[in-house]
Formats: sequence, structure tokens, C-alpha cells
Amino acid sequence: MRVFIDTPEKIAEMAAQKYVDLLRRKPNAILGGATGSTPLGLYAQLAKLCSEGKVSFKDATSFNLDEYVGLDGTHDQSYRYFMNENLFKHIDIPIERTFVPSGIDTDPATAAAYDEAIKAAGGIDMQLLGIGNNGHIGFNEPGTPFGSITHMVELTESTRTANARFFNSIDEVPTHAVTMGIKTVMNARSIILMAIGKAKAEIIKATIQGEVTPQVPASVLQLHPDVDVFLDYEAAALL
Ligand code: PGA
Repeated sequence: MRVFIDTPEKIAEMAAQKYVDLLRRKPNAILGGATGSTPLGLYAQLAKLCSEGKVSFKDATSFNLDEYVGLDGTHDQSYRYFMNENLFKHIDIPIERTFVPSGIDTDPATAAAYDEAIKAAGGIDMQLLGIGNNGHIGFNEPGTPFGSITHMVELTESTRTANARFFNSIDEVPTHAVTMGIKTVMNARSIILMAIGKAKAEIIKATIQGEVTPQVPASVLQLHPDVDVFLDYEAAALL
């Protein structure tokens, strides 16, 4: 793992540069997208670079990590809505080549078909990840088998509490989600992990310097050959 530590603004720029380099080399790259507060600075940077003509997504495809069960794409807390509002509307990617798992059709066969669609597209070239306070990547909560593919999960209390800030109350936070599995993520050719803020410091230490264990799902990234980790000073404080 290559670890870069700087301000939130600077790590957003460094991560954005990875997209510029990839899309210059491979304009039709397959991108893996993430939601949450962490990628917002990166997405703003990508929108800026795209509007300045410094990067183009017109031949790219994207597959997002996860979606809440029960929320359709028009719900303002769905991850489809998040991606449209925070990225897709502001860059030149054709919306029909942006994919988010369905939170409505939770048939296991539909979830597994997401992995097949990724494979059919050629596999993910670069997967972006945030990290949960409990080490989840996507919504792969602690204990998720490393061999998992896209599947439905029950969210932990820790995750629901962390995400309650976006809803009127914790009761409104969905109890389940559909997420790419750990294996789906590990199949990506390269991975960018981003973390910002002191609430992430402990789990970042466990992820990078701790034992590789399903109890810390992100620790599996130690086994991937091409991972860039972008941390702000607070998230890196315990390294
Ligand atoms: P955050 O979420 O970026 O809002 O901290 C990250 C995650 O839960 O994966």
C-alpha cells in the first residue's frame, strides 16, 4: 500500500490526478464509485477538471459500491441520487453507463448479476473506497467473508448511527443495503482508499498496520497489489 498524507484539499487533488492519469491512458476506463462525505472534495475536483477540459469521462463507465435497500434512485438519501447530484451531473459521463446496485430488486440473482456486469464490461480499473468507523468498505461490515460478491447485508448499529446524520432520525436509516462484496472490490486492478478526520484514525491504523482479518474488512487491502491510500493529517495521526 502506498500511503499519502496531506490536507483534505491536497489529497482530493492527488486522488483526482489518479483519474486524470488513468483516463488519459485509457479513456474507456471502468471506474468504481463510492459515496459518503469523504469523496466530496475529490468529486468537486473532478467536476472542476472536467469543466476545464483537463479530463473527460465521455467514454468511461462507472459501477458504484452500494445502495440502501428500500430506497429508489429518486430518494434524496439513495446513493444513486447522491452520485447524480455530486458527480454525474457535473462531468461528461453518459448517465446510461453509470451503474448503482438496485436497492429495490434485492433478489440474490440480481445482486450476483452486478458482478457479472462488471466482468462483462472488462473489470474495474480503479475502485474508490471510503472506510467506515468499523472498517467497512462498501457496506461489507466486520465478519464479511473475503470471498463475498455483491450481496444484501444487514447494517450494523455503528453504521446506521454514523449515517443517521443524513436522515431525520435513526429510525429512517435503512436496516439493509446491497453492496459489492470484498472479492468484487479486490478484483479491481487498482484501488484508492480515502479517509479524513480523527474519527477514522484508529481504524486506519488497524487497516494499514494491523492483522489482516475479516473483523477489519479494509485490512484485506494489504493483500492487494495496487492500493493508494490518501489520508488527511487527522486520519493518519496514529500511524
Ligand atoms: P464517510 O463514509 O465518507 O461519510 O465517512 C465512509 C463509509 O462509511 O464508507
